[in-house]
Amino acid sequence: MEFQNLLITNKGRIQYITINRESKLNALNKDTLAELHAAFSEAFQNPEVGGIIITGAGPKAFVAGADISEFAALDANGGTQLSRRGHTEVFDLIANGSKPVIAAVNGFALGGGLELAMACHIRIASDNAKMGLPEVTLGLIPGYGGTQRLAQLVGKGKALEMIMTADMITAADALQYGLVTHVVSPEELLAKAEEILSKILTRAPLALAAAIRSINAAYTDGINGYETEVAEFGKCFGTKDFKEGVAAFMEKRKAEFKGE
Ligand code: COA
Repeated sequence: MEFQNLLITNKGRIQYITINRESKLNALNKDTLAELHAAFSEAFQNPEVGGIIITGAGPKAFVAGADISEFAALDANGGTQLSRRGHTEVFDLIANGSKPVIAAVNGFALGGGLELAMACHIRIASDNAKMGLPEVTLGLIPGYGGTQRLAQLVGKGKALEMIMTADMITAADALQYGLVTHVVSPEELLAKAEEILSKILTRAPLALAAAIRSINAAYTDGINGYETEVAEFGKCFGTKDFKEGVAAFMEKRKAEFKGE
């Protein structure tokens, strides 16, 4: 599929999805969100893709937020629909995806941009990155999962402070808060993301998907995460990858997983 606002490149089993609206600091307009839905749906289904790195074009921004110019015409109903569609079609799609997604935060990650990074399974940042949820400066609150995922990642107190002050934090602060797991120079960012993802891609793919589902279950209302873990753990025993993993260990060789 051809995209106007995304660049898709493949490097072995890693797929790069780069948001490519540099002149607008990669702000998420409706078209970009629709393309993200299509790109992630395709990546999760494509057997040749093992995992995804998402980043922003240019040196300045990962994503500077939802496109504010599209907000002006919305009323309460329109706002509700925008938020609900965003959750389902992009942010939850990524968070619940069956393949690992790493956000390489290469500059501003604000509003919907930080929400996008938080929907990913792992976040790393360049040392010039700035992160925040400034929606209250617009008379809004975060609407793409930010009130929930920020509190899960950094704790309720820091989340309330960040959201209510609307302050941006530095990459160093984000590392200290646990919002990102590594901070490197801008030049090293993609190499670091590839290093982490390449290691993950040597592991059993169905087990990775089971781990994502089990961890997410802890944050899903009405679902008992421990019960999910029991069920997912059991299902792993029925996979060829499990047999291969155990056989490789016993034979003192590297496992060759097929995702079966
Ligand atoms: N929506 C729409 N356009 C945006 C945008 C957004 N969230 N963020 C940046 N842009 C656009 C600017 O309007 C500008 O476009 P123009 O050149 O056509 O005027 C372009 O991107 C460059 O941004 P600019 O503000 O000139 O860059 P800067 O370096 O002075 O400031 C920011 C960078 C990130 C501090 C500033 O752009 C900003 O505050 N953006 C909005 C952040 C925000 O509130 N996000 C949450 C939205 S819910």
